[in-house]
Amino acid sequence: MTEAELYTVYKGVYVPSHLHPPHSLRYYEEFAFRPDDIIVATYPKSGTTWMQEIVPLVVSGGDPASVETLPNWDRVPWLEEQRACILNLEQRPSPRMFSTHFHYNMMPASFFEVKPKVIYVMRNPKDVFTSSYHYYDIASFLVKPGPQSEFLDKFLNGKAMFGSWFDHVKGWLSADNKERIMYISYEEMITDLKDSVARIAQFLEKPLDAEVIEKIADRCVFKNMKKNNMSNYSAVPREFMDQTKSEFLRKGIVGDWKNLLTEAEAEHFDAVYKDKMKDVKYKFAWDFN
Ligand code: A3P
Repeated sequence: MTEAELYTVYKGVYVPSHLHPPHSLRYYEEFAFRPDDIIVATYPKSGTTWMQEIVPLVVSGGDPASVETLPNWDRVPWLEEQRACILNLEQRPSPRMFSTHFHYNMMPASFFEVKPKVIYVMRNPKDVFTSSYHYYDIASFLVKPGPQSEFLDKFLNGKAMFGSWFDHVKGWLSADNKERIMYISYEEMITDLKDSVARIAQFLEKPLDAEVIEKIADRCVFKNMKKNNMSNYSAVPREFMDQTKSEFLRKGIVGDWKNLLTEAEAEHFDAVYKDKMKDVKYKFAWDFN
């Protein structure tokens, strides 16, 4: 199926129509944030699910009850997704935890008034591309990637769900309310998960003992988290997400793009990156030529 059949253009970016019907986008537009809400913001395939595991564990002081009983999409629900309207989020006790794939400038009015805390997770776009390439193939609500070179063009030109990776990252990096935003990368989390958990706890003003931090990090390493049926998407029917082709928690590594991109594609990617990111001063955890 084509983009026109599967996607809606919302505020200039593609969103999968099946997951984001007009009433759920309206619900988000009118959503009332609280100052102690915690929002996990990401471009898709950057580590959303990982953060949906870490944040509830930090907030609960290491108590695994919610990550063992609630699927990630109800535990830290996406505000733009259709389920948000039926979860009674207004009744949830503080601190509430939400996810979003929205660009900074797509956030609803209440977000800018209330200024809840945001954890923005970034990942090397070549790995985001690689993860997306496999994911688009297994998700029935996404346009099949087709030939790799075509999918690369689409990705680099923002013709993917939630638009351009470059615009997403640049938008969130130039946010006004920086003291309320924690920027962290997938690569930092891979390098030192314990330190990342400790930094997240500090940002959320949740003091945790070293022992608890260690336990949280251990639960959240790829091989352990992959076994959690509340986080590995095993509850999703195969016709919606065919994990016999490629698992949602697929490889969980840094640098898998080297196994996918040709030399010419990688060079092209680098050139586009260099051009689009030329004005960005932020020191990313990855190197680009
Ligand atoms: P790969 O496809 O490269 O394996 P998102 O949740 O934003 O859609 O991102 C999915 C990507 O994060 C997948 O990348 C997935 O394997 C990876 N991921 C999820 N949990 C992880 C964990 N605990 N450790 C490392 N990577 C993880």
